[in-house]
Amino acid sequence: MSISRESIKKYNIPGPRYTSYPTAPVWSDEVNESVYGEKLRSFGQSNKTLSLYIHIPFCQSLCTFCACNVVIRRQENKYGDEYLKYLFTEIELISKEIGRKPSIKQLHFGGGTPTYLNTQQLRSLFKKVQEHFDVDLSSEVAIEIDPRTIDYEKLVTLKEIGFNRISFGVQDFDQKVQEAINRIQPLAMVKEVNQWCRDLKFHSINFDLIYGLPYQTQASFSQTIKDVIKLTPDRIALYSFAYVPWLKKHQNKLSQITLPDNELKLDLFLLARDAFIENNYLSIAMDHFARKDDELAQAYNEGELYRNFMGYTVKPADEYIGLGLTSIGFIGKTFIQNVKVLPEYYKMLSENRLAVERGKILNEDDEIRQWVIRALMCQFQLRRDVFYKTFHIPFDEYFRDERDHIVWCIEEGLLLEDDKGLKVTEMGKIFVRNICMGFDQYFQKQQTKQQFSKTV
Ligand SMILES: C[S@@+](CC[C@H](N)C(=O)[O-])C[C@H]1O[C@@H](n2cnc3c(N)ncnc32)[C@H](O)[C@@H]1O
Ligand code: SF4
Repeated sequence: MSISRESIKKYNIPGPRYTSYPTAPVWSDEVNESVYGEKLRSFGQSNKTLSLYIHIPFCQSLCTFCACNVVIRRQENKYGDEYLKYLFTEIELISKEIGRKPSIKQLHFGGGTPTYLNTQQLRSLFKKVQEHFDVDLSSEVAIEIDPRTIDYEKLVTLKEIGFNRISFGVQDFDQKVQEAINRIQPLAMVKEVNQWCRDLKFHSINFDLIYGLPYQTQASFSQTIKDVIKLTPDRIALYSFAYVPWLKKHQNKLSQITLPDNELKLDLFLLARDAFIENNYLSIAMDHFARKDDELAQAYNEGELYRNFMGYTVKPADEYIGLGLTSIGFIGKTFIQNVKVLPEYYKMLSENRLAVERGKILNEDDEIRQWVIRALMCQFQLRRDVFYKTFHIPFDEYFRDERDHIVWCIEEGLLLEDDKGLKVTEMGKIFVRNICMGFDQYFQKQQTKQQFSKTV
């Protein structure tokens, strides 16, 4: 697929990644402890199922590219113990509000680096979760690990505890790139950890990669991709480097001169994408690939792929709750985000208060646009009949004002249209964020524009 330089320039504007709609910059303090409490209580009175995300914010050292919510601490048991004390209080408060033991269809430990916790801390956290929630161990029980800070014994413990999926940060194998991002993890190390995961029968092993990092060239990134393919991960997340130094001050340490320019960045993405597709991976979403025999690929083919803050999934629960610093949940049509500063999180919980900071209660229009954006991002298509069945309004009538945007996308070769609806083209898959922006009414009203990384 050839993409002109003009297109790249045109599309490469700051824009949301749409891990949520409405996107986080428009959330506000309209969601507070009392709203959260009320949502939890009404969830408790339903028989809905739940996904649970638990955030462990700690890492031992800072990767200079990182845009995650992290707290850097040298690994000492006391930090983990202290954090768990407050996390347990949060679990108890939430469980009390719910008033029943909900069934968990998807459990995800993310970070930071959850395996910063020692094995005893991980065991006690899992036990605490099981005391208050009914975890289905045959469903998705996933954890993010950092290959630099894991050993075989810890992986054995994870398996014993009940984790069945592993995701790990690879980013890039090139030594010069690794030095520039303060993250040394040679191929041999990743190979070993990957083999341990296979021996222990973790399934759906995922690698995270990033394109657009300092010193990446077509030759160096091609080599990284070749090495990745040889290790046969089941899933690959190929992220565009989000360069947001106004939000993450430490990214200023990266010299801009060493960053690939926009054209090279897109070339890096395309070479990786082509190589994955040639090697039995399916492009299931903008930046995600799955081996054709992985259940995500099957779900994609059947139009049954979903996405939330934990990533892509085949088994969405009705609602999800986030536990821990900065974590996000979605319950009763409302996004809820916890506070982002550790002492504040500790203080609120020590006062037995839910540590919520902000969120967004969706109105009807938000729900409709959320549905549309999700369909475009996850299924790469939008069916008029399904839209009508869901909202009892004709799609073209509701989105009359967006018609110009749809026509523009068609003329640009990003969308195709027929009687059934809209379909994202191969090029549109790469610029799907640009398609979605036209349906994002907050973005269109310029309420959020300057706060995002660029789309390519
Ligand atoms: C929480 S980390 C994964 C677990 C573990 N902390 C590690 O790094 O191995 C989540 C992933 O987010 C991605 N990531 C972090 N900062 C990013 C950025 N600025 N742009 C794009 N992706 C980023 C990385 O690929 C990283 O592996
Ligand atoms: S990429 Fe992972 S290990 Fe590196 S700082 Fe971010 S969360 Fe921590």
